[in-house]
Amino acid sequence: MKKSLGAKSLAYPLPVYLIGSYDQNGRPNIMAAAWAGIVCSEPPSLAVGIRLARLTHESIVRNQAFTVSFPNSSQATAVDFVGIVSGRTHDKFAESGLTAVASSLVKAPYVAECPVVAECRLFKSLELGSHTLFVGEILDIKADEGLESPEGGLDIAKVDPLVYNSGGHYHKVGASVGKGFSLGKALIQK
Ligand SMILES: Cc1cc2nc3c(=O)[nH]c(=O)nc-3n(C[C@H](O)[C@H](O)[C@H](O)COP(=O)(O)O)c2cc1C
Repeated sequence: MKKSLGAKSLAYPLPVYLIGSYDQNGRPNIMAAAWAGIVCSEPPSLAVGIRLARLTHESIVRNQAFTVSFPNSSQATAVDFVGIVSGRTHDKFAESGLTAVASSLVKAPYVAECPVVAECRLFKSLELGSHTLFVGEILDIKADEGLESPEGGLDIAKVDPLVYNSGGHYHKVGASVGKGFSLGKALIQK
């Protein structure tokens, strides 16, 4: 028997992304975002919900672009820092020790120390209420050397992405429990 928890913005698991943008003076800024994910394959697209009050919100609208840097589990302290202070009052790259790299594809910076990054042009915006859903078309994914999986793509254990638990703690990802588009075949009845 389940008990009702009410209408909440709750889902499991949540990613933690670092959204990179330039402010009105061209200074690089990043913020943490957990309300985000991949939403389309053609064009490859990623969406993130950002509150109107964030400096990042106006920066994305002005530059029509943003980057997404995927932090690893060892970067949780820096990630949390850029998620609790605003670029309006802090130079978050300098204070976190993270390094801004200018994307050559879009007008936005990404984080050198993150193992994987996505460079996005703003494709669509949707006002949802408290948050604007920004959909970015991914123009390129860049990854550190040595993260490849023998099966193709990147090895999640090597990427070691940071995961967030709604309103709570940061986590690491656990072990694989099976292969996608494969395990379920055991239940297909001819
Ligand atoms: C784990 C975590 C996840 C967050 N997710 C979001 C999010 O999805 N959307 C949002 O608008 N703010 C989110 N925030 C809050 C922003 O990161 C925070 O308000 C930040 O200071 C905004 O920076 P800016 O004003 O420099 O853009 C999150 C913060 C943390 C710590």
